[in-house]
Amino acid sequence: MTTLSQDELKTLVGQAALKYVVEGEIVGVGTGSTVNKFIEALASMKDRIKGAVSSSEASTQKLEALGIPVFDSNEVPELAVYIDGADEIDGKGYMVKGGGAALTREKIVAAQSRQFICIADESKRVAVLGAFPLPVEVVPMATQRIVAQFAAMGGQASVRMKDGKPLVTDNGQHIVDVKGLKIEDPLAFESQVNQWPGVVTVGVFAHQKASVCLLGTAQGVKTLTY
Ligand code: 5RP
Repeated sequence: MTTLSQDELKTLVGQAALKYVVEGEIVGVGTGSTVNKFIEALASMKDRIKGAVSSSEASTQKLEALGIPVFDSNEVPELAVYIDGADEIDGKGYMVKGGGAALTREKIVAAQSRQFICIADESKRVAVLGAFPLPVEVVPMATQRIVAQFAAMGGQASVRMKDGKPLVTDNGQHIVDVKGLKIEDPLAFESQVNQWPGVVTVGVFAHQKASVCLLGTAQGVKTLTY
């Protein structure tokens, strides 16, 4: 048996997601290397969809370069499906996201979608969320207080840097990445951190969880439903 690389697994799940795209409609599109594979596959049916709502400037550029029209999320009251990757997904479809710093727009598009289809290779599957550093988008003036609040929970938060400066998101904010957390109750954790002043978005997706995960494994694409 030949072993598929992580990149090949991403291609497989990106292609498998096409069957969830509703013809004649607008599809919600996430961000990241797995989603990039989905976008490439989506180009093959671009004449059969109206277009996409995108969760980042990076995905918008890629969609438009392939001739797929991108709509403002405010123009579209509801989407049938949102297709996105994850940094971690547990046995209930709860996820950690934001490795690509797009978590806020991802959560917005997920919230306007009836179904979240997660596409991931099997390295993303975990029993308990928290092994991947948790991304949190923050208003810069609140950073140090938020770092201290995570420290009080046993987490070590640090500001994500790019080219020697804090990374600036598509929304003009910063990201802190928190190590050392074990998120046993994702719903409660998301609600709690959401209430801290200065938190724009916490990268736990529990209220906007996946209903399906297309998981790339050595045995092929497995469909997990939650
Ligand atoms: C971006 C995300 C991505 O979905 C997540 O980081 C997974 O990315 P990849 O498919 O490149 O592993 O949340 O903010």
